[in-house]
Amino acid sequence: MKVDILLGLQWGDEGKGKVVDVLTPRYDVVARFQGGPNAGHTLEFEGQKYVLRSIPSGIFQGDKVNIIGNGVVLDPALFKAEAEALEASGHNLKERLHISKKAHLILPTHRILDAAYEAAKGDAKVGTTGKGIGPTYTDKISRNGVRVGDILHDFDKKYAAAKARHEQILKGLNYEYDLSELEKAWFEGIEYLKQFKFVDSEHEINGLLSDGKSVLCEGAQGTMLDIDFGSYPFVTSSNTICAGACTGLGIAPNKIGEVYGIFKAYCTRVGAGPFPTELFDKTGDQICTLGHEFGSVTGRKRRCGWIDLVALKYAIMVDGVTKLIMMKSDVLDSFETIKACVAYKVNGEEIDYFPFDIEGVEPVYVELPGWQTDMTKMQSEDEFPEEFNAYLSFLEEQLGVPVKIVSVGPDREQTIERYTEE
Ligand code: GDP
Ligand code: IMO
Ligand code: MG
Repeated sequence: MKVDILLGLQWGDEGKGKVVDVLTPRYDVVARFQGGPNAGHTLEFEGQKYVLRSIPSGIFQGDKVNIIGNGVVLDPALFKAEAEALEASGHNLKERLHISKKAHLILPTHRILDAAYEAAKGDAKVGTTGKGIGPTYTDKISRNGVRVGDILHDFDKKYAAAKARHEQILKGLNYEYDLSELEKAWFEGIEYLKQFKFVDSEHEINGLLSDGKSVLCEGAQGTMLDIDFGSYPFVTSSNTICAGACTGLGIAPNKIGEVYGIFKAYCTRVGAGPFPTELFDKTGDQICTLGHEFGSVTGRKRRCGWIDLVALKYAIMVDGVTKLIMMKSDVLDSFETIKACVAYKVNGEEIDYFPFDIEGVEPVYVELPGWQTDMTKMQSEDEFPEEFNAYLSFLEEQLGVPVKIVSVGPDREQTIERYTEE
């Protein structure tokens, strides 16, 4: 069997959680391969809303196995809070949530370091989620990390060594902090974590594939936040692209099947960094209000703008996207016209490729008629208004990949498959 991968193509928050939940019944296993509690994946069904951070979004559909892969960074305290809340609402996790022994642990001092590095950057700060993501991946790459599997061997010694090293760095940065509360919650998290199944997830997944089982990999963040291909340095610290699923789960590239690329009908970004199509006017505020564009985890206002097809094409290229999924179509319901960026102007010259640096590039737009129809009640593609179909055709023509799923509201049910010929 092959592995399918679902990835965000923009700057995150495209609606990955919702669609993973919708697609889960078609798979035997759902696995996260990178990122950590910087993610906030929202799911809505049966009048309930859930926000997942480290737990894969396949956890609500039947008894599917969900895996937290080696590429993920895990904060035991935040994991405990997230998992306990799910268990309190009647979802049993212990048997079917498996955690890779090779996943790296976010230590309390990683969170302090995240804050200290941001403070030291002053105006150049990234606007991180403050969850210790960067420092934890830094330790992983510099071969100083502490892993889930270490909890079972020599843990106190490894923890103490990492903490001492971090304290030394914080001293050098003259950063004041209080570790006591964070550390207490963290060790409670470690005890809680021990109740879960620690696995060699690369063996587990490859074994399942050999047995004919199907796997859906759930990306976090988005391609524009990828450490290599995103808008560096305003990015996260992991490979959010398709290849991240290979390294983050131990899946060989020739095992990859479909790559679902998910994007909003417009564009948003949280935190600092360039955003060519950002709107600073009434239209931007309207998109923000209509789309409830506030962070699922931090509550931060998301910056809003028109769809950027130059960036999307780039994302589709590096990810090898085979099927597109368009989210939040309903948010644009009331607009008379809708703009799409098809090129950038750089020093007066028009380019249609994603350059080394997107700081200061000017978007070149085409304007399309809006559909001015309530999309939230749509049941099938047959009901789509003409202008909406025209918008989809325009995107498909520009991007060269078919849009196979359209989302018209936050609920699981508000999801429409397109069966149109490619
Ligand atoms: P993720 O991080 O990619 O999983 O996305 P988030 O959960 O951070 O943000 C997506 C937000 O949009 C959530 O509040 C979802 O409930 C909501 N959402 C998802 N799909 C749709 C849609 O088609 N229409 C509307 N209006 N909201 C949606
Ligand atoms: P999901 O999975 C949107 C952004 C942060 C910041 C940058 C680096 O919900 O789509 P980090 O804490 O990772 O070091 O922050 O990345 N960021 C996200 N933006 N959605 C996310 O996740 C994000 N995770 C990180 O705002 O700009
Ligand atoms: Mg999110």
